[in-house]
Amino acid sequence: MIPQKTFVSPKIIFGRGYLKKLATVLLEEKIGNNIVYFIDGFFTNSGFEKVLTFTGNELFFYVDTKEEPKTEDIDKFVSNIKESMTSQSDVIIGIGGGSVMDVAKAVSILLTNAGLAEDYQGWDLVKNDPIYKIGIPTLSGTGAEVSRTAVLTGPKKKQGINSLKSMFDYIILDPELLQTVPKEQRFYTGMDCYIHSVEAINGNFINNFSHAYADKALQLCEEVFLGNKGDDDLMIASMFGGYSIVYSEVGVCHALSYGISLAYGIHHGEANCIVFDQLDEYYPQHVQLFRKMLNKYGIQLRKGLTKNITPKLLDKMVDATLLMEKPLSNALGANWQDVFTRKKIKELFLKM
Ligand SMILES: [Fe+2]
Repeated sequence: MIPQKTFVSPKIIFGRGYLKKLATVLLEEKIGNNIVYFIDGFFTNSGFEKVLTFTGNELFFYVDTKEEPKTEDIDKFVSNIKESMTSQSDVIIGIGGGSVMDVAKAVSILLTNAGLAEDYQGWDLVKNDPIYKIGIPTLSGTGAEVSRTAVLTGPKKKQGINSLKSMFDYIILDPELLQTVPKEQRFYTGMDCYIHSVEAINGNFINNFSHAYADKALQLCEEVFLGNKGDDDLMIASMFGGYSIVYSEVGVCHALSYGISLAYGIHHGEANCIVFDQLDEYYPQHVQLFRKMLNKYGIQLRKGLTKNITPKLLDKMVDATLLMEKPLSNALGANWQDVFTRKKIKELFLKM
């Protein structure tokens, strides 16, 4: 039997307007005054920071999320914090989409673990406890608020810092923060949640915990994107989809999607959608339902991405995919390399 290990962030509050509870949370958790905020660049000049807590000793970073976070960005943030703060920071607060969540998680780890961010890309490589961290998502779907990974693009690979130490200590879920999300972004990011759940439920690593959360997340996604449920449910779907992969894994779509993001700089949610549209062979019914949601939402996926691709770039994408051993074992079994060959991966990429 597969062990039913479950790890979830210990404290979560959910409610409209709950961003305002941040000050209370900081007091209740007896957190010191040295606060580092990472805020989505989307909110630059919006006056967003006015609603936050000030202690007189905080640092603000507005994170440019046009591109997904790189390991070198994390290293720069860490040295900047070390130079700017006279003592150890007490708390890292990430407010934004998946990229900002990942930045907050990675910085909290790199502040207490020597070396470079790229040294920790992989599974369970973090030794020291990180700085206390709070996640406040403003975009729903990535599940980054509850997942045990901080996905980064490094000089050699796109891979997460997969560790329990990546998980937030406290999460504030405030659906009001989703109201400014642009339509396409809402769809692509929402589909990340849908695909997490599909890959968890169809994988070999599935257990009762993951299954129950994936099942509910799929139902909520359908009700949000084909029915008339709104942001409150999307936020819960994202969290449940995230839980479904905490102790299961993603699958073929995510393995290929990392190659697309690495080669074309396309955001994770959109890259997933481009890939998932070509995966009838692996997830037939769920791909059909995905297309229904795509049509209902009026989204046109990019086509012909790899039309003029060079053999060198195609090889790089295949290499990135082959690094995703855990997702591929989850999806295709221990002998995945026998069926998911370089030739097969190239054929799939060339359809996109
Ligand atoms: Fe994802």
